[in-house]
Amino acid sequence: MSKKIAVFASGNGSNFQVIAEQFPVAFVFSDHRGVYVLERAKNLDVKSYAFELKEFASKAAYEQAIVDLLDRHQIDLICLAGYMKIVGSTLLAAYQGRIINIHPAYLPEFPGAHAIEDAWNAGVNQSGVTIHWVDSGVDTGKIIKQVRVPRLPDDTIESFEERIHKHEYQLYPRVIKELINKN
Ligand code: GRF
Repeated sequence: MSKKIAVFASGNGSNFQVIAEQFPVAFVFSDHRGVYVLERAKNLDVKSYAFELKEFASKAAYEQAIVDLLDRHQIDLICLAGYMKIVGSTLLAAYQGRIINIHPAYLPEFPGAHAIEDAWNAGVNQSGVTIHWVDSGVDTGKIIKQVRVPRLPDDTIESFEERIHKHEYQLYPRVIKELINKN
């Protein structure tokens, strides 16, 4: 049987949209209220939940609320897609091995929140996109799949970024497809 997916995002949600257009998504979770990904969910008729860390007494309590949602929906695979928080010990204890992330660089090159800008500023002639398992580090988990993306001589940071996103929209669904059909 195909596995049940949840997507976590914090803002724009373009990767969430690409995923939801190709696979049934049980719900999207956002750690911010009022962000565009929630609008996208509404338009795509995907259930969404949003709550913020500051509404809880601790990160453990915040993550326990997330774990409760995941358990309630019997989620098999969590796809982080622009979820801008480090996954903490409560969520990892319950779901490690079932959480994947997309990163807009060729890990271990350029980990962190500003990977595209960092690669651009370093003057590389290629960067990439990586899908990896999530562990307690920042973009350190075991790599599942990655592709190289060139930086072309007449690129601006905008055109470079757009090319990276295009590759994200192809790679993430490919990996998800493989994982949800696996036993
Ligand atoms: C993507 O580039 C993803 O790789 C990174 O955050 C960005 C999210 O974009 N982790 P979006 O919210 O999916 O549009």
